[in-house]
This record gives sequence, structure tokens and C-alpha cells, in this order.
Amino acid sequence: MECYRMQVVVIVSLMLLFPNTQGWGEDGHAIVCKIAQSRLGDTASEAVKKLLPEYAENDLASVCSWADHVKFIFHWSSALHFADTPENLCNFQYNRDCKDQNGEKGRCVVGAINNYTNQLLSYGRNKVHSQYNLTQALLFLSHFMGDIHQPLHVGFLGDKGGNTIDVHWYKQKQNLHHVWDDSIIETAEERFYGSEIGDFINAIQENITKEWDSEVKGWETCNSNQTTCPDLYASESIKAACQWAYKGVTEGSVLGDDYFLSRLPTVNLRLAQGGVRLAATLNRIFG
Ligand code: ADE
Ligand code: ZN
Ligand code: ZN
Repeated sequence: MECYRMQVVVIVSLMLLFPNTQGWGEDGHAIVCKIAQSRLGDTASEAVKKLLPEYAENDLASVCSWADHVKFIFHWSSALHFADTPENLCNFQYNRDCKDQNGEKGRCVVGAINNYTNQLLSYGRNKVHSQYNLTQALLFLSHFMGDIHQPLHVGFLGDKGGNTIDVHWYKQKQNLHHVWDDSIIETAEERFYGSEIGDFINAIQENITKEWDSEVKGWETCNSNQTTCPDLYASESIKAACQWAYKGVTEGSVLGDDYFLSRLPTVNLRLAQGGVRLAATLNRIFG
């Protein structure tokens, strides 16, 4: 127990020392997790409540970026946040693309989602002790479900998902990856929602029940009774990366209103799909 408290202290300290690193930014992940938790059925809702650390106060969104903050202590986990394609290819193939820098298979965001889903399926099966830390499994799964929906987390290997492409976001020096993790979301919040993340979430929630209502069932569904289908989410992301994120952008591009307004619908859609699918996956795991 003391050891666990120490772990919490170390992690919280790290969070204060290294705010806001990679992934969707803090806001993108919080949006995905807020949407997801609001869509949980009773059994999944209870299980999540039991698994969340006490300091989260039953708010999944508050720990949705935990996986980014522990990259520094869990070095093995940093390859699990993305899955890039070689030779600027616009399709995802698990066997070709899901490996880390050492070529170890399955070590990418797709493999990680399958792995933590499988770990969580042991919840309730072994009432006394799981061989896994299911709190960490829940936090990893919730985070990676966000990452896999960020188009540039399934980007090109050659530019590290846009990380090495320097651009200007309006007058600010930025890289393309950061534009998609943070800048588009932050600019939308500032411009349309009085800098309130809650108002942005409400707007997406309203789109889910109105504009996208007829599509949501399709988002939730996986082929052949799988619990989750990250291959599909990754395929959609690299398609969106090619069609929207990379399109028309080169080193030094100035990205302003034209880019922001034409790409925002894709960001909104991917945040919504991430939230809906995290909920659907958790409902199937615990349901
Ligand atoms: N590092 C290398 N590729 C990356 C990606 N697509 N996203 C985040 N970090 C990365
Ligand atoms: Zn991440
Ligand atoms: Zn990122």
C-alpha cells in the first residue's frame, strides 16, 4: 500500500513537472473520455468507478492523459501511442505497420488497444486477483482509444506523424503534429466556445445525437463479434491524415483560417468517434 501511495506521489509530481506532452493534447483526451463515460451502461459504469484511482473522483477524463505523463518512467510504453506507415502509404496494414523501432511486432497503438482490452476482459473472471493491473489497463485503453483517432497518430514514418514538419499556425511556430494534437482544438475553443472545454464537449455531444445520429450505430459496430476493432480506426486515421492533415502542407506552410475551418469538421468527427467507440468497447468488455 505504501508502495502504491509512493507511485501516486511520483506520478502526480511528474504530471506537474511535465504538463501537456503528446497525444491528442490534454483537451482532446479529456473530450474523448468525457463523451465515453457519459455513454456507459450500468455495469461498465460500475466497473470503471471501481477501477479508477481514488484521486480521479470517478472522473475518467481527469486521468485520460496519464499515459502521456508516464512515458518517462515506463519507457516501453512510448511506442504504443502511434502506428505509422512507411513510404508515405495511405493505408494501414497491421503486419507491416504495427511494430516498434526495433521491429518488435504488435508494439503500436493497435496492438496496445487489443492487449489492454484483453487484460480488462479478465475483470470479474478472477474475483480475487487479476494477474494484471487493471487500473493501468483502463487508463491505457482510454488514452490509446483517443490517440488512434488522431489522424497523425497513424501518419507517415518518415516525418514521425508530422512531428518533423515545421509550419506556422497563424503567427505561431508549430509542427504539424502539434497542430492536430492541440492547436485546432484550442483555436476552436477560443473562437467558438469562450475558451470553455465544457461548451465544446456539449457541442460535440449535440452533434452525436443529431447530425451523426444515423451513423453512430455503425461507429460502434465491429466485424465478427470482436470486442474492439482498432485496425479499422487506424485505417480511417491514415486516410484522414492523407486527405486532410498532410494535404496541401509542406515544410514552412502558413496554416490559417482556410486550413483551420476546413479541417475542424474532421477533428470534431474523430473526437466524437473516439468517445463513442471507447464507450462501446468498455460496454462490451464489462457488459
Ligand atoms: N513518434 C513517431 N511517430 C509518431 C506519431 N505518429 N505520433 C506521435 N509520436 C510519434
Ligand atoms: Zn498518447
Ligand atoms: Zn500526438
